[in-house]
Amino acid sequence: MECFYYFKNKSKPKERRSAPELERESNNSATTADRVAKSSCSATSPRGIPELYEEKAHNLLVFSFSELKQATNGFSRLLKIGEGGFGCVYKGSIKPVDRTGEPIQVAIKKLNRDGLQGHKQWIAEVQFLGIVEHANLVKLIGYCSEDSERGRQHLLAYEFMPNKSLEDHLFNTAYAALSWQARLSIILGAAQGLAYLHEGLEVQVIHRDFKASNVLLDEDFKPKLSDFGLARVGPTHDHTHVSTAVVGTYGYAAPDYIETGHLTTKSDVWSFGVVLYEVLTGRRSLERNRPRAEQKLLEWVKQHPANSRKFSSIIDPRLEDQYSISAARKIAKLADSCLLKSSKDRPKMSQVVHSLREIIQVSGAGDDASQAADRSFEFSENEPGDSESNPGQTGRTSESWKRRMAHLAKLGEHVEGASRRRFLIMQRTRVQ
Ligand SMILES: Nc1ncnc2c1ncn2[C@@H]1O[C@H](COP(=O)(O)OP(=O)(O)OP(=O)(O)O)[C@@H](O)[C@H]1O
Ligand SMILES: [Mg+2]
Repeated sequence: MECFYYFKNKSKPKERRSAPELERESNNSATTADRVAKSSCSATSPRGIPELYEEKAHNLLVFSFSELKQATNGFSRLLKIGEGGFGCVYKGSIKPVDRTGEPIQVAIKKLNRDGLQGHKQWIAEVQFLGIVEHANLVKLIGYCSEDSERGRQHLLAYEFMPNKSLEDHLFNTAYAALSWQARLSIILGAAQGLAYLHEGLEVQVIHRDFKASNVLLDEDFKPKLSDFGLARVGPTHDHTHVSTAVVGTYGYAAPDYIETGHLTTKSDVWSFGVVLYEVLTGRRSLERNRPRAEQKLLEWVKQHPANSRKFSSIIDPRLEDQYSISAARKIAKLADSCLLKSSKDRPKMSQVVHSLREIIQVSGAGDDASQAADRSFEFSENEPGDSESNPGQTGRTSESWKRRMAHLAKLGEHVEGASRRRFLIMQRTRVQ
């Protein structure tokens, strides 16, 4: 289909060092499924993704299929590190640009050949990750779009994130529990990533698939958001929202977006609220194997309000009482504000960042996300000055640190991620 004709590489075909130029048709691809809401205003457009892409995406490398095949030992099962809705992810090793020095480790995502939807996601991923630059967003190193004997192949090569995802550390008991400090710094970093997308670029970018599995963790457990395949440009000018086909993940997508297809940055804010509760409770947004009243996380936590005495009973038992209950209450209240029914009443992500910084500062955990992440395994997890802090168990902190390190060592680098499918909600939007 014409509008999914992707890239034309201006540079010589063999050179893979310059940014590709997007075809005019493909420029529309990120928005073809979307219709800007018919509210007033028809002023001249600000620069869009295509223009920004041409200006900013210079560093993306264009790989040949054989290069990436070689980098992953022929997409060896031993190097498979995960699988999502898009396809399989492999650990690979590529030569640096100047071909001298140590090879660089990368994560290579190989698109399932499943037609239009996959192609659109691949384009969106290249376009959005080509223009963004932030410490809390995963870096796209390059891509491949090439005809092979098996049809057209689409791949993406990202910086390698050695510590898996927030989802793995929260819900997979093969990993040691994340400490309270680590949780705080991860949610702050993730909030900063979203705030940058919403408010730090010339265009508003809405992630649309924010969830624990899309928060990857680097060697210092610093969080970086990934998976921009469903990202969309937000409303411009006086438009209140963008109307789209409803896609995302059950349990994380905002109900107002699911009902109307009206997309705003506040849809991401809702998803962030869900993840905040996952971080507090160590439970997934949906858990079918629980008693009925506990299956839906948001319904369950409603029965244990932040100000109530029973609130502490929802906190992740894996924290072993090593957390600040007053900070946890504040985070729950912040989550509640992100989960307000009316999207307009939800805070902006910059406000969320501000609140989280305050909570972290007051609880004595330091206000710098990366600092906190760097030191998260060195600190005592007790919080001096916090009258509601739980009693200290100093021995346990270093024990849990040792356990974590032992676990990570044991898990090694070639652990095959559990195969999970994203539930795409493919419901057509209602026309206004
Ligand atoms: N840049 C990366 N570095 C290291 N591992 C990665 C990287 N990107 C993805 N992975 C691994 O691959 C797994 C699958 O990622 P993917 O984004 O394809 O699916 P998912 O997020 O788990 O599910 P979904 O398709 O619903 O988003 C991740 O959970 C992670 O463990
Ligand atoms: Mg993902």
